[in-house]
Amino acid sequence: MALLTIENLPGAAVKVPAGSTLFAALQAAGHDWMHACGAKGRCTTCRLQVQAGAENLSPPSEAELRYRAAGRLLATERLACQARLPTGEVVGRVPEATKLPHVQYS
Ligand code: FES
Repeated sequence: MALLTIENLPGAAVKVPAGSTLFAALQAAGHDWMHACGAKGRCTTCRLQVQAGAENLSPPSEAELRYRAAGRLLATERLACQARLPTGEVVGRVPEATKLPHVQYS
C-alpha cells in the first residue's frame, strides 16, 4: 500500500488505498483538509506542496493542468482531490495559505 506523509500535520503516515485520491485517504484517516469546492477540482484550496516522491503520483489531471497554465498551481504542488498514489511514498506539506484555523500544525 502507498504511503502519504504530511510533514507539518501531526500523526502517522496515511495509507493511500489503490484508486483513492490523496484527499479521500486523508479524510478516511481522520484528517481535516481544506476542500472549498467539495473535492471537484474547481478550486485550489486542497493543494499539497510536494517535498518528495512526486514521481510516484498519478499524472496531473486536466484541472491541475488548467490551474498550472493559469499560474494558480505551482509545478511542485498537486491538488489532493485529484492526485492518486498508485504505489510508493510521497511527502508533502500543507501550504500556509490553506491551513485550517482549528487544526494544530507542526
Ligand atoms: S477541493 Fe477544490 S480542487 Fe480540490
